[in-house]
Amino acid sequence: MTEVSKMRRKLVLGNWKMHGSIGANGQLFEAIRQHASQNDVPVEVGVCVPAPYLSQAKNALSGAAVAWGAQDVSAYASGAYTGEVSAAMLAEFGARYVIVGHSERRAYHRETSELIGAKARQAISAGLVPVICVGETMQERDSGIAEQTVRDQLSDVLAFVGAESPDRIVIAYEPVWAIGTGRSASSADAQTIHAALRACLREHGTNMEQIRILYGGSIKPNNALGLLSCADIDGGLIGGASLSSDDFISIIDSACRALGSETRVAEVANAGIKS
Ligand code: PGA
Repeated sequence: MTEVSKMRRKLVLGNWKMHGSIGANGQLFEAIRQHASQNDVPVEVGVCVPAPYLSQAKNALSGAAVAWGAQDVSAYASGAYTGEVSAAMLAEFGARYVIVGHSERRAYHRETSELIGAKARQAISAGLVPVICVGETMQERDSGIAEQTVRDQLSDVLAFVGAESPDRIVIAYEPVWAIGTGRSASSADAQTIHAALRACLREHGTNMEQIRILYGGSIKPNNALGLLSCADIDGGLIGGASLSSDDFISIIDSACRALGSETRVAEVANAGIKS
């Protein structure tokens, strides 16, 4: 393992999307909390819940080594923006993370890089860590422009955010075709894109390469170890599998097992790419 990857603590972050109920959440929070308290988990764990459940997350998880966060935030600090939730409000609930620019928001809510950049900036100024999502469609992958697409998406958002200290931002690479489909990127393909994103971060400022880059898109217990062992994959953004405590905990355990094996897997992946 390189010095660089040692500095980036792996992060396993659940994205509940628009799922949950007070009753079902209680069981899930309790299982995650117990797992974190009974085990000395060397990776960081968090859950991004629908906004109405932030107070439940705060009550259920406070004191545990589990962070909580939201899935969207307003691009504005405060004011007449009916339906919006500000970064300061999320921070008041003790939220640490907020997902911005998820492909579902880009597609269904027509979110632009400018808007996503403004949301990320609001999050940072309120003390939250934005999880900035990028990812190519299947058509873009088939046309051979996957790498260029995600690099452009990242640069476009970073242009509104500026150079930040690495612990203030997280990036998530989520190929659109892998989200919720059960068809994840292979470890080698994901590692290739993550390495390209890392290079892109490096171009944006000294230290920016230390920003953690998560992989998301159909991570399940059976593929988590391979993906999370890659040198440039610093954790996972977990959708469907984060709704099952057994699956989510199994993925956390895989992230723990992956520690120390990054270099070996990167070598295998790179050898595969070259041949
Ligand atoms: P998935 O979703 O794990 O269900 O594919 C990931 C995400 O959309 O963040």
